[in-house]
Amino acid sequence: MLNFYFKEDIQQLHISDLPKIDHYLNRDISQLMEISKVAVEVNNNGEVLLVIGVGGSFLGARAVIDALTPYFAPNEYGVEVIYAGQNMSGAYLQQLLKYLNKKEVYVNVVSKSGTTMEPGLAFRVVKQYMEKRYGEESKQRIIVTTDAEKGVLKQIADKEGYRRFVIPSEVGGRYSVFTAAGLLPIAVAGIDIQAFLCGANQAELDLDTDNLEQNAAYQYALTRYEMYQKGYSVELLASFEPRLSKLHEWWKQLFGESEGKEYKGLYPSTVNYSTDLHAIGQFVQEGSRIMFETLIHFEEVEADMEIPFTLDDMDGLNYLGGRSMNSINAISKDGVALAHEEGGVPVVKIVMPKLDAYHVGYLMFFFMKACVMSASLLEVNPFDQPGVEAYKRKMVELLKKDAVLVNE
Ligand code: PA5
Repeated sequence: MLNFYFKEDIQQLHISDLPKIDHYLNRDISQLMEISKVAVEVNNNGEVLLVIGVGGSFLGARAVIDALTPYFAPNEYGVEVIYAGQNMSGAYLQQLLKYLNKKEVYVNVVSKSGTTMEPGLAFRVVKQYMEKRYGEESKQRIIVTTDAEKGVLKQIADKEGYRRFVIPSEVGGRYSVFTAAGLLPIAVAGIDIQAFLCGANQAELDLDTDNLEQNAAYQYALTRYEMYQKGYSVELLASFEPRLSKLHEWWKQLFGESEGKEYKGLYPSTVNYSTDLHAIGQFVQEGSRIMFETLIHFEEVEADMEIPFTLDDMDGLNYLGGRSMNSINAISKDGVALAHEEGGVPVVKIVMPKLDAYHVGYLMFFFMKACVMSASLLEVNPFDQPGVEAYKRKMVELLKKDAVLVNE
């Protein structure tokens, strides 16, 4: 299923000591049924699901939804999933409320800690909006996803009587896409969560081996480590299907937050081709030799378009007439890989058979498994984010100081 363009052997590791992540897959059937039930309710009574969350609490859902839903339309029931709490823009929130006014709204606020500033502020605004607009009914329209025991969001949910889903305490945000944090918005978007989980489950089975020859996730992790040892400081994740751009963002957070510690780690960067070939392509081909490239390719994409012939062939493109757009895209991928390798950028290829829920689930679990190995090779903890905590502390310190000055 996955093959590597570039691969060399490196040192042997104590692989059996690596932390397992199989418990990151939601296998709680009653919770899955409840998620599906709520998704049906939102689709029957709503037009918008507003997901409030930041980092791992929204990137996974958004990655899957963008990868698997149509470019230009809401889902088949007319429901769209939109996002808040991932920034601190007043204009964004103001325009969001204006937009919500025209729609029937459900809200899913997702925060494991329940104390993160961005979703906290957005939820405060949106909660007030929902109460004004829907009164008592707002309690039915707000759904909370948070830790089972801890955090202020859980307390709010209990006090208000909101429905609540759990992110297991042992699952960190960026590893939470297979829990309710990811699954509820994904289900509302009309994506088959069973197929998504089946793909992840298959990856879990395929990759549950310490034999490096048979473990593609570990091979990918070792390749990254080898690149790092050779002096490459950037990994550029690239794909040729625009709807994967949010999957890139999820990957960037997964590896960036898991590995970038103790002044170590590859800088995870992303590009969408062919768009970015006309932007950053020049640098990749001839700029500083600091990067290697990982190309994700889905062999089958459900929709395609045939290039028409024209009588006059004014644009000189008749030689491509009758070809499918996807086949041209696939060949451009091979051309890019060859050119970049010739230009001194090693290329790793990850090939998936089909862009669907099953294979996206497979790929995300693959990356999570690889990430744990990769961080372990660097001897950093894949599951914490001390640097993020540092910025949060500073920000709160400054805001409190500022609040005192304003109140004086
Ligand atoms: O991966 C992580 O743990 C982080 O990116 C968190 O998901 C992010 O900081 C949001 O945290 P929380 O879900 O507690 O609001």
